Amino acid sequence: MEILVATKKPFAQIAIRQIREVTEAAGFKLALLENYKNISELLVAVSTADALIVRSDNVTANVLDAGKQLKIVVRAGSGYDNLDIAACTAHNVVAMNTPGQNSNAVAELAFEMMLYQIRGGFSGNSGTELRGKTIGLHAFGNVGKYVADIARGFGMDIFAYDPFVSERVMKNNGAKQCINVKELYLKCQYISIHMPSNDITKKSIGYDLMKKMPQNAVLVNTARKEVIDEAGLLKIFEERADFSYLSDIEPDCKAVFEENYKGRFIFTAKKMGAQTEESNINAGVAAARQIVEYFNTGKEKYRLNR
Ligand code: 3PG
Repeated sequence: MEILVATKKPFAQIAIRQIREVTEAAGFKLALLENYKNISELLVAVSTADALIVRSDNVTANVLDAGKQLKIVVRAGSGYDNLDIAACTAHNVVAMNTPGQNSNAVAELAFEMMLYQIRGGFSGNSGTELRGKTIGLHAFGNVGKYVADIARGFGMDIFAYDPFVSERVMKNNGAKQCINVKELYLKCQYISIHMPSNDITKKSIGYDLMKKMPQNAVLVNTARKEVIDEAGLLKIFEERADFSYLSDIEPDCKAVFEENYKGRFIFTAKKMGAQTEESNINAGVAAARQIVEYFNTGKEKYRLNR
């Protein structure tokens, strides 16, 4: 059995060592395709693989066609907008993710960006503090809960909106429930976005929501750039000089920001929320274990295509 790890953005080497240990202890072979630049490299590498581990790498019908022996694909991470789930099902390939494994790293990045921003990029000028400020968690899954946890330490007043999570769960994690999304944006100076990208959420955060945010609004996006309506984002930036946007990955309209709005945004060049040794180990090893368990026992806990 061959498990292929195919990652354009590689795992830390310490994570690869641990993935190898899990794989080889189970009697499987580990193949690596890291830092690949072209899909053709993936099409060749996947042709002998029984299982595939990816990060944000796109697993399309073409990849599945090339993976003639492929039985399972695991996205080492949470968001699986990069997997063509219908194509996996059509190819009789099990698709899984590893929810929660990299969530702390993403939550920490949200604060790293906030702190850097409100201290003026460590320029030496007077900044502001988080204590006593309102923070709204737009979606309250694994990352949202870690953000709430850290926000409590900073003494922030925490609100959350998530149509799929009960008030009790929010309360147990120190957050007050907002009954609709408008209330969240009206109440909170800081909003941290934690929803998946799908047909319903794409472009769902636009001008109408952003304009509700209080003075000195800071919108933090460690989810996906696709959930933002960029036309609305540009409109609010044009109207409100007090509005900041911190995003883990550059928006398509990055050039307009660079030309007009210096100091009011942070964009990471590569998606780096989950780019820590710890989260690489957690997500990578979980993926390898899930594959080994699937082959050995048929366990399908995080299967996405039932
Ligand atoms: C996720 O969905 O798990 C995160 O966005 C991490 O993605 P990455 O593995 O591509 O860094």
